Amino acid sequence: MLSNENIAIIKSTAPILKDRGVEITSRFYERLFANHPELLNLFNQTNQKKGRQQTALANAVYAAAENIDRLEEILPVVKQIAHKHRSIGVQAEHYPVVGENLLLAMKEVLGDGATPEVLQAWEEAYSIIANVFIEIEQDMYDEAAMQPGGWEGFKAFKVTRKEIESDAITSFYLEPIDKKPLPSFLPGQYISVQLHIEGEAYTHVRQYSLSDAPHQDYYRISVKQESDHDPEGVVSNYLHKSIKEGDTIPVSAPAGDFVLDTSKDTPLVFISGGVGLTPLVSMLKTVVTQQPNREVTFIHAARNSQLHALKGEINQIVKQIDSVKNYTLYSNPTEEDRKLKDLNTGYITLEWLQKVLPHNQMDFYFCGPSGFMNATSQALQQWGVPEERMHYEFFGPAKQLETVH
Ligand SMILES: Cc1cc2nc3c(=O)[nH]c(=O)nc-3n(C[C@H](O)[C@H](O)[C@H](O)COP(=O)(O)OP(=O)(O)OC[C@H]3O[C@@H](n4cnc5c(N)ncnc54)[C@H](O)[C@@H]3O)c2cc1C
Ligand code: HEM
Repeated sequence: MLSNENIAIIKSTAPILKDRGVEITSRFYERLFANHPELLNLFNQTNQKKGRQQTALANAVYAAAENIDRLEEILPVVKQIAHKHRSIGVQAEHYPVVGENLLLAMKEVLGDGATPEVLQAWEEAYSIIANVFIEIEQDMYDEAAMQPGGWEGFKAFKVTRKEIESDAITSFYLEPIDKKPLPSFLPGQYISVQLHIEGEAYTHVRQYSLSDAPHQDYYRISVKQESDHDPEGVVSNYLHKSIKEGDTIPVSAPAGDFVLDTSKDTPLVFISGGVGLTPLVSMLKTVVTQQPNREVTFIHAARNSQLHALKGEINQIVKQIDSVKNYTLYSNPTEEDRKLKDLNTGYITLEWLQKVLPHNQMDFYFCGPSGFMNATSQALQQWGVPEERMHYEFFGPAKQLETVH
């Protein structure tokens, strides 16, 4: 337990952390990687370059400082981070290394503001926060390893099939080399893949949502090739161009808390943008087998039919199950697309949602690029959908969604 005096110190430094958090965490990462280059095997270097990881860490540290005497209030956020840590392979022995470098970075950035009392209070607070993470992550490691066919860390999977789903997205079917039974997963969960790319000093780890229903004898991921920008995406391009059927890749056990709640029977709306459809396809396939009478509206936004992945699979479900409705919006339809009789064009807006949905008493699950996430969440907030019925995931370090004022 932290003393009342130290609780007061931590809370009094929370505003400085809010202001200078990114500066501190940026300096922290520079120190961390200079002192422990082996940790470059774990961290996504593109997120570092774009500053996304620094911001995510600063927000988490700030939230912990504000809630230091009631950490249970931020437990859902801690669990979400712990899922990511477990999926990547963060270990208990990494915590002191991170703590030491975080404190040194704080001292450097805050200068005279980082008095010995402040640093001592933070050292104690960090150790309390770290222990919460370590305990939760240990439970997650045990759970992943103890289920039939379960494992800890990364295990070799063979790519048994590669299937082109659209101009940008290809699916990879993965089966364990050891032929042990494949643990199931909750629809919406992801795995991490760890690639050893020839000529690269460190491994590259990325997360991919499982895009098929659970209880198959394979895991399927559907990966968008990120080739629109320079430099192009490291892992997605390697998977598309270099990984062939028969190759093996290391995969960690399914993780993540963006999962379908099948204990409820409220109508569901799945809204996806681009490759963000992957976890929602898994949810759709689960709900139609486990709760076939539950009403579902599946909404997908894509640029056009060339980039519309998994279309056939979704249409098949819609044809067979009366309780599922399906809408597609193309922002940039092709000439061919314009001939479609049920074509919707443009982006998702509140007006459009109110046209296709009879009411808002539904659970909304959404996933897609940042702009899409903000637009969707703002439309739902304006419609009065409460926070507890909005479920979402970012395909990168979690960000704050913009609020409507
Ligand atoms: C929980 C979760 C689930 C996910 N599920 C899926 C999924 O189902 N399917 C899927 O395709 N993806 C998914 N992702 C995203 C995936 O993990 C990768 O982030 C994605 O494949 C890009 O990785 P990459 O290595 O190809 O690109 P990176 O090398 O990480 O680059 C990402 C983007 O940044 C650009 N870039 C690179 N360097 C710079 C720089 N210096 N400055 C500016 N821009 C730069 C690249 O061109 C690229 O567009 C998921 C992510 C998470 C967190
Ligand atoms: C109390 C201490 C820690 C806090 C508050 C913390 C916080 C976070 C946060 C907020 C994220 C982003 C989660 C997301 O994707 O939304 C994250 C990711 C991550 N963390 Fe931690 N973390 C801590 C300790 C550690 C330690 C000890 C390690 C191991 C060296 C570690 C390694 C990572 C890695 C590798 C990622 C993913 C980064 C990426 O892919 O860009 N973290 N952490």
